Amino acid sequence: MAKERTLSIIKPDATRRNLTGKINARIEEAGLRIVAQKRLWLSRAQAEKFYEVHKERPFYNDLCNFMTSGPVVVQVLEGENAVAKYRDVMGATNPANAAQGTIRKDFAESIEANSVHGSDSPENAKIECAFFFSGIELVG
Ligand code: CMP
Repeated sequence: MAKERTLSIIKPDATRRNLTGKINARIEEAGLRIVAQKRLWLSRAQAEKFYEVHKERPFYNDLCNFMTSGPVVVQVLEGENAVAKYRDVMGATNPANAAQGTIRKDFAESIEANSVHGSDSPENAKIECAFFFSGIELVG
């Protein structure tokens, strides 16, 4: 399979607890390469735009509040089957359902404060990576 890229966000609950290095170790141990990374404090408008697909969901407002409550680390991960592989490394959205050894099982606080985001398809990965990074910032 060809190399693929996916967008990862280390969320405010994880940056608050200084877990960026531990999460990056999980990513690298899984064979994914961090080819771009930056720490940001999202504006309300940026969070609303990024999560626009969830606009009609009941949790949208709380999700945007949470994602603007502290710094995030946005990153592009590269590797074979990167989208699906990172979803395995993250575990289920709700940490109560996440498998042993996944990031969310080990670090997430709740379904909202679930430590990490990862793109859900190769098509969305392209859109999400382009939301945060220009081509010149991706260094494989
Ligand atoms: P994420 O992968 O960032 O995509 C949307 C986020 O909404 C999700 O992770 C969760 O953190 C958050 N969320 C909050 N409540 C829910 C819910 N009931 N169902 C799904 N996602 C939720």
